[in-house]
Amino acid sequence: MKRMTVPAIRRRKGGDPLVMLTAYTVRMAQLLDPHCDMLLVGDSLGQVIYGLPSTVPVTLEMMVAHGAAVVRGSYHAMVVIDMPFGSYEASPEQAFASASRLLKETGAAAVKLEGGRAMADTVRFLSERGVPVMGHVGLTPQAVNVLGGYGARGRSDEEAAKILDDAKAVAEAGAFSVVLEGVVEPIAIEATQSLACPTIGIGASAQCDGQVLVAEDMLGLFERTPRFVKKFDNLAGRISAAVETYARDVRARTFPGEEQVYAPKN
Ligand code: KIV
Ligand code: NA
Repeated sequence: MKRMTVPAIRRRKGGDPLVMLTAYTVRMAQLLDPHCDMLLVGDSLGQVIYGLPSTVPVTLEMMVAHGAAVVRGSYHAMVVIDMPFGSYEASPEQAFASASRLLKETGAAAVKLEGGRAMADTVRFLSERGVPVMGHVGLTPQAVNVLGGYGARGRSDEEAAKILDDAKAVAEAGAFSVVLEGVVEPIAIEATQSLACPTIGIGASAQCDGQVLVAEDMLGLFERTPRFVKKFDNLAGRISAAVETYARDVRARTFPGEEQVYAPKN
């Protein structure tokens, strides 16, 4: 099965919804890959994998290491890697230096960066130089220190107009797709109708051209429950139960059992 490509993703505008999940490790990538059109090596790994308080401290080195693992664990989905905070905002040139490292050192096909009109020149600069860019507007977690939290965006008319303008700016600058995160539903619907490229919703609308979630969130593995997370399983509970059984068996000396020990050679 051939890997999904940027043009194939673009062609899905208005068609079958695009399925995307985050992946940070090889085994998770292997498990998600057959079901997904795209895998996102999200900078959410800062909180989910490293226990950091936000995505702000995430480094390019972390994204390279996890990006390479996810590429090694996937065959079908297109891999998109988040550009971490501080690796792209200063100038288009800085962004190109960081993005080219991500693509060269991991084998991923595209990068994602946060920001609207302020990032449009950078999106164009990268797109025209061989780096496909996924945009990300609305709730942009790297701006937590400016936004003051992770609440939904676009509740006032002014904020709604700004988010729509941001989405249009990055799409017109050449983004092959735009993530709409944590926005009130009418904005997601309007952006989906007006953008030429696919929109990917998270806390947005089922009308978007695709959806993304943090895999650990939807699997019930990470203790975090924003409104937009639907838990499709409770892996945390299942892991606790399995480990409890293991601990009990070790303490009762019923593990290892006969099947797990080696008999002497005869
Ligand atoms: O880092 C992340 O996981 C994201 C999402 C869009 C879920 O950016
Ligand atoms: Na992210």
